[in-house]
Amino acid sequence: MEKIVQANQFIKDNKEKVKPKYRLNYHLMGEYGWINDPNGFIHFDGAYHLFYQYNPYEPVWGRVHWGHAVSKDLVAWRQLPVALAPDYPYDQDGCFSGSALDVKNRLYLMYTGFVYTGPNKTKDYRQTQCLAYSEDGIVFEKLKINPVIGEDLIPAEASNRDFRDPKLIRWGEDYYAFIGSKDRLGQGQVLLYKSKDLLNWHYLNVVAKSNGRLGNMWECPDFFCLGSHDFLLVSTQFMQTGEKDDHNLHIPIYFTGQMGFEQGTFKAVHFAPLDYGFDFYAPQTVLDHKGRRIMVAWMNMWETVETTQTLGQNWVGAMTLPREITTIRGRLLFKPVRDIEKYRQNRFYLHNIILSSEQVLATTGDCYELKVSFDPWKAEEFGLKLRVSATEETVISYKRDQQVLIFNRDRSGAGPQGERKTPIRLLDDKLKLRVFVDQSSVELFINEGEKVVTARIYPGQAAKGIKLFALGECIVESLEKWDLVVSGHNM
Ligand code: FRU
Repeated sequence: MEKIVQANQFIKDNKEKVKPKYRLNYHLMGEYGWINDPNGFIHFDGAYHLFYQYNPYEPVWGRVHWGHAVSKDLVAWRQLPVALAPDYPYDQDGCFSGSALDVKNRLYLMYTGFVYTGPNKTKDYRQTQCLAYSEDGIVFEKLKINPVIGEDLIPAEASNRDFRDPKLIRWGEDYYAFIGSKDRLGQGQVLLYKSKDLLNWHYLNVVAKSNGRLGNMWECPDFFCLGSHDFLLVSTQFMQTGEKDDHNLHIPIYFTGQMGFEQGTFKAVHFAPLDYGFDFYAPQTVLDHKGRRIMVAWMNMWETVETTQTLGQNWVGAMTLPREITTIRGRLLFKPVRDIEKYRQNRFYLHNIILSSEQVLATTGDCYELKVSFDPWKAEEFGLKLRVSATEETVISYKRDQQVLIFNRDRSGAGPQGERKTPIRLLDDKLKLRVFVDQSSVELFINEGEKVVTARIYPGQAAKGIKLFALGECIVESLEKWDLVVSGHNM
């Protein structure tokens, strides 16, 4: 408990030092320091609980704790005390990612205990799976018998070092844990463990594995059934896409297929990335009390998180806007949770405009939702420019001949630049975009959620303009914009 008290005290004493520049309004962040992956996402005792990888002491990764926040609607969050701190020999160097399960009104967290075993930090470490529980959903007790899945249960075909991020589920009468792993040759894979009582576990099988091109380590697995399919999610590390410089190093993907719990195998028939932007990693899902499957991810990316660090902001990291997942013919669709709509204010509306060059909208902003439907008509290229000032802009464009959507942040302000391209077919001859802008983030939902592009940008405060543009003539059938006002609503 001492480490938790210490962390909470430190946060209390230091949170005023967080710089407001780039802080988000309707996305969850840490109060001070560093956050990465979402953890233990669950609806428990009347509220959504979202835990997260947290170094409360500095805006850099290290000795991660589990931060904890709650929300009634997935938009306005309230911070609770730190839930887990690295304070036992089996987790002394970090409480790594994991998941939550409600077992007879007790909230269980299964996480990875991380320990350095020697001086070489890239090689000398150990990862085991541990459990903690809480009666009130706030104060957690670690089990005396931790780790519940130790090194002795790692099969010979798996790395005995990289073994982390358990997704704990109940299936029928049994408990299962999907665990991120790599094989001895450096291919990402997911291992499956089974238990009758959460305490005694045995190894079942390699559930799924990279085919040689899908990354050398699979982190943060997730599993769910939706419609008539099963879905397995993994965050792949160092995926070989065959392209240069136009993709992330680490890509979360989903597999559509069929899970066999008897043998512990997942037969995949399809896979696709979960996001097509720059900043989306380690997604985790929950089935809520309304029957919705909701996903949230870290809205940053390893290797490119440095912007608020180097700018001395005393904080790093945020979560995406939670997304509701639905499925059509085995493909996933993503929609921002509906709850965000109740924070809309100041509606701005245009319709049936013929656009043949650039048009500046008579509205501006840095925290809003924009919904637009383009009829491409005679245009070769058209799109939107957001966060525009004399020197900055973030550009979303659609190239008709190539049928690709391009997100460009070369002139977005501070921070990393670059472009992401993704093929998009028009939907009923239209391109429909729904964009969520929040200070230093953009989340773009394309054609009713067929694809999403998520990116962090760091524009100057003057960059609030919004423009439409076209090469050739296109029709803006409708455009709606609302400011999103969440402050003051914290539960
Ligand atoms: C993914 C990850 C997990 C690990 C955690 C450590 O971003 O590397 O595999 O549990 O972060 O903070």
